[in-house]
Amino acid sequence: MRDAARASAPIGVFDSGIGGLTVLRALRRRLPAEDTVYLGDTARVPYGPKSPETVRRYAAEAAEFLLGQGIKLLVVACNTATARALPDLSESLPVPVIGVVEPGAREAARRSSSGRIGVIGTQGTVDSGAYEAAILALRPEAVVEGLACPLFVALVEEGWTEGEVARLTAERYLRPLLGRGIDTLVLGCTHYPLLRPLLQEVAGSAVTLVDSAEATADAVQRELERRGLGAPVAAGQGAARYFVTDDAGRFRRLAARWLDEEPESLETVELARTAGGPRPGASRR
Ligand code: DGL
Repeated sequence: MRDAARASAPIGVFDSGIGGLTVLRALRRRLPAEDTVYLGDTARVPYGPKSPETVRRYAAEAAEFLLGQGIKLLVVACNTATARALPDLSESLPVPVIGVVEPGAREAARRSSSGRIGVIGTQGTVDSGAYEAAILALRPEAVVEGLACPLFVALVEEGWTEGEVARLTAERYLRPLLGRGIDTLVLGCTHYPLLRPLLQEVAGSAVTLVDSAEATADAVQRELERRGLGAPVAAGQGAARYFVTDDAGRFRRLAARWLDEEPESLETVELARTAGGPRPGASRR
């Protein structure tokens, strides 16, 4: 691809389902001239409880599909997929790959005064230790407390982001972490920003919440500038296309709530299976 053609190519954004829309929204606000292609692997969500090998295979299949859409950069807008598959994807793909863990970890390391940092996410993300490693690389004296909060994903998918059930769940999960004196809490799952007002209330104003979406949009902007790959501003408002691997109707309903815009171009696709590593080819259904 020539440089001008590459700059006009879309940014690919991938998540296990709808959670990555929080990252996409931040990206589209920050870089309005960019075209984007979003893939939500809704047929196979959640990735959180799945084995590292399975998540790596799913991520490779999603990446191959988006490469087939001619993307210039891939955003892995899923914490679990980033935690499990980012090194493999970065090594094997011909485009730059940005995950959500490093930007969130950087932000937490910068904003914490005491260095006592809590990280909440899926079981896979917490088990991987990816946030802990990324934070300690930046602040070796930090104390990082990880906690899996799987019910938060279900609450968000159900639209129960406030009210008694959500509050009791948040209190039950967060109490032990808060008891350990954290001053910063990383929302290490793409669904959790939707619970942000409630989590802030439960954690109290002395705890800084860090959400990877903004930090990731910032990292994407810097990477595009560094490589001279930003879309020409004269191109106007970038187009957004959406693909899912399961029923598009449910995605459309949820996405309308999560985004500033209705998803206009939305298709269901079937991802090509890979034996482990990436392989070209994905077919539409
Ligand atoms: N998108 C996932 C993440 O950020 C949450 C949902 C899932 O378990 O797949 O980790």
